[in-house]
Amino acid sequence: MRKIIIAVDGYSSCGKSTLAKQLAKELGHVYVDSGAMYRAVTLFSIEHNFIDRDNVKKQELIDSLDDIQISFKPNAEFGFSETFLNGKNVEKEIRQMKVATHVSKISAIKEVRKKLVSLQCKIGRNGGVVMDGRDIGSVVFPDAELKIFMTADKEIRAKRRFDELYAKGESVSMEEVKKNIEERDYLDTHREESPLVQAKDAIVLDNSNLTPQQQLEVALEWAKEKILNSEF
Ligand code: DC
Repeated sequence: MRKIIIAVDGYSSCGKSTLAKQLAKELGHVYVDSGAMYRAVTLFSIEHNFIDRDNVKKQELIDSLDDIQISFKPNAEFGFSETFLNGKNVEKEIRQMKVATHVSKISAIKEVRKKLVSLQCKIGRNGGVVMDGRDIGSVVFPDAELKIFMTADKEIRAKRRFDELYAKGESVSMEEVKKNIEERDYLDTHREESPLVQAKDAIVLDNSNLTPQQQLEVALEWAKEKILNSEF
């Protein structure tokens, strides 16, 4: 089967990574979580005191960008790759609220995006990749064979994210989760540098009322059609 590039973009907590992982597994493609890269840079910024309450010491972070190495290593037990920051496994830490609170500010910085987009392009240059994020179909892979734009009801998204954090033992309130999702949606869609937009040729997938299996079936149909078409 031919390897293509699938871009999965959309709002926070829409289930993008669930779908992207499912698709990658079914198609024998590699799953790449671009949000994890922005989260890793945010964790680095927290650890180096570049974030003071709500202010980011932007220039200090920019000057340190060459000291940030992000990589992914497959974890056979879980069946997906984990994120490493300068050689340390940060997969769990980058999912915490302390990172989610600041990640949109960090991802709005032009120099951060330049570095990470270049890394993303390198990872996907040979195809066979399902990458999720905010600007994958619009900026990183404008020629991706399939672009999916995901959306879901805000209340449902908040409930899903709350359940996820709760299962991981993090004590956050539903209100906090809802506020964080709203703030991130706002910042991600209003920033100057490659804001979250629906690419013209993206197909919308609203999964408010779909189970993970149902959303996979829908997206798999689209992917198979694109693969078939790209073989001629
Ligand atoms: O997908 P996620 O929630 O893990 O992403 C975390 C943040 O990173 C999100 O609020 C916006 C930012 N992001 C981005 O700006 N561009 C991407 N391609 C992926 C994520």
